[in-house]
Amino acid sequence: MLGRELADALARRGLDCAGTDLDCDITDAAALDAFAAGRGFAWIVNCSAYTAVDKAEDDEARARAINAAGAGNLAAVAARLGAALIHVSTDYVFDGRASRPYDETDPVCPLGAYGRTKAEGERLVLQACPRAVVLRTAWLYGRHGQNFVGTMLRVMRERPLLRVVADQRGTPTHTATLCDVIAEIVVRGTLAPGIYHVTDGGETTWHGFASEIRDRAVELGLVPAACRVEPITTAEYPTRARRPAYAVLSKRKIVAWLGRELPPWRETLAAYLRAWAAEHPS
Ligand SMILES: NC(=O)c1ccc[n+]([C@@H]2O[C@H](COP(=O)([O-])OP(=O)(O)OC[C@H]3O[C@@H](n4cnc5c(N)ncnc54)[C@H](OP(=O)(O)O)[C@@H]3O)[C@@H](O)[C@H]2O)c1
Repeated sequence: MLGRELADALARRGLDCAGTDLDCDITDAAALDAFAAGRGFAWIVNCSAYTAVDKAEDDEARARAINAAGAGNLAAVAARLGAALIHVSTDYVFDGRASRPYDETDPVCPLGAYGRTKAEGERLVLQACPRAVVLRTAWLYGRHGQNFVGTMLRVMRERPLLRVVADQRGTPTHTATLCDVIAEIVVRGTLAPGIYHVTDGGETTWHGFASEIRDRAVELGLVPAACRVEPITTAEYPTRARRPAYAVLSKRKIVAWLGRELPPWRETLAAYLRAWAAEHPS
């Protein structure tokens, strides 16, 4: 999802970018070296990951090979090339017990295998590459790949009533916001190595997110007005992996560097749905 959007976003800005997928397997260090040889990369952006949060509980070794060792391989390649690395990580490195937005310096304490392997990846990347930037993001949606917005739009067309978890807080984030920040980091080249939080602005629950999708989508004629979204608790919707109850990230470091706030999640969602409606006329 993020990788395709980023390749498009960088190309639109006239930046020369070699986008890869499984053709460049990050768990294969020799293949990465061979791919990078002689290409003079100045930046490497790691959007790849094992992202199936529930499946990772029963497949932790594979998740670790990609999210930790694979990320470390990329960082080592970047270090050998003298390139800078942008590595994307997640709010799920936290346990969600906080009652204020998580700071970059707060200790990580993941609840599940996905978060554990992503936290290990952060550590390996920062150790292996002196020019590494780790961007933690959250609740991503975008044009490519499966995501919550796409699932909600589909299910709202199929069913009159949806029940959505209302006791997990976080920030929906459009991939376009993150791609803008990544492009700015590359173009300006002045961001100090370290960890940064990048999400859209504000916070809500999955139920709040689904309700906003519903309201905007009804206005755009994408889903029936009769569709209702009912709040439920996490206990009523058990999943294999535990998720943090509170996963709001403080963006103070990146906001200070950008010199601007990141857009409120409701605004980016509304823009995304308008574009979606224009691309999918009924
Ligand atoms: N989605 C979210 O809500 C969310 C939230 C917070 C953070 N993040 C982070 O944001 C980043 C982007 O996530 P996303 O949502 O764009 O995930 P995604 O759509 O699942 O994309 C991850 C990509 O990595 C590829 N990949 C897996 N193993 C690989 C390997 N060994 N070598 C090369 N590529 C490999 C996957 O290919 P296959 O699909 O073929 O396996 C997939 O195309 C990840 O770091 C993720 O942890 C995501």
